[in-house]
Amino acid sequence: MSVHSAFEVAMPGVSPGVYDAADFQAISEIAHREVGIVLPPGKAMLVYSRLAPLVRDSGCQTFAAYVMRIREDTAERTRAICALTTNHTFFYRESHHFEHFAREIRPRLIEQLERGGRVRMWSAGCSSGEEVWSLVMTLLGPDRNAGLQLARRDIRVLASDIATHAITKAQAARYRQEDLNPVPEPLRRAWTVPDGAEATIAPEAQALLRFRHLNLLGDWPMAGTFDVIFCRNVMIYFDTPTKERLVARFAEKLPPGGHLYIGHSERVTGPALGTLANTGPTIYERRAA
Ligand SMILES: C[S@@+](CC[C@H](N)C(=O)[O-])C[C@H]1O[C@@H](n2cnc3c(N)ncnc32)[C@H](O)[C@@H]1O
Repeated sequence: MSVHSAFEVAMPGVSPGVYDAADFQAISEIAHREVGIVLPPGKAMLVYSRLAPLVRDSGCQTFAAYVMRIREDTAERTRAICALTTNHTFFYRESHHFEHFAREIRPRLIEQLERGGRVRMWSAGCSSGEEVWSLVMTLLGPDRNAGLQLARRDIRVLASDIATHAITKAQAARYRQEDLNPVPEPLRRAWTVPDGAEATIAPEAQALLRFRHLNLLGDWPMAGTFDVIFCRNVMIYFDTPTKERLVARFAEKLPPGGHLYIGHSERVTGPALGTLANTGPTIYERRAA
């Protein structure tokens, strides 16, 4: 069976006059070049279902016409890329990372703050914010008064993503109460404000955050290093060279003793292994220079 007829079999109900293998190929190439996301042939239907509403709204009659549009129109290309991102996330995901952070890293960061130093953390690929809010609540801790003292010190947390719709949700800091269930109850009590079926993150915690639309493959305008970087379940969509380049850049953004947390199915390979030591399940520490 030719590539094209195999594609048609995999796309029941979709007219090849509207969307075909060449369109999928062109969209895959754009996604890979722009944001590193690899779309294997098995994702053809997913690409169709995510982009079909945009194709319709753009007034294009076919995906081929839409491909031409996104090649030329940066704003439309950004919309298409956002629609192709997978933003699945939840509070306290891979809870062992937050437990490790609370046990091994937080005491050192508190000492650093109490000595008049600063703390910088980054959730790279933060999606709709559940990861970074979990991290901030864990840093501030279960004792609200002690956490308020900490929050007055020099703490800045960066949360970045390529998907603008996800950042908007993260920044709103408002979630369904049931979504917060995985967060340990003392942290929830200290750092969320219930409002009916929903809850918002406490304003003192929100004040520590900076949100940024940032393509991890592009330039990073942030000066300085981060004590902790979370980049979890982002690199699973990238190919090995892209992952290795990215992890090497993260390593450069960590001071000696700084930590990188990655997703449960990911691991560090390549040049960054020279500077990052694996100190726990999907947890890496920057070695002393
Ligand atoms: C599955 S979510 C992971 C969210 C969170 N880190 C977690 O583990 O629950 C992956 C996120 O990575 C973002 N992403 C993918 N490629 C990116 C890139 N090149 N630059 C920045 N963010 C990207 C997506 O928009 C998406 O929100």
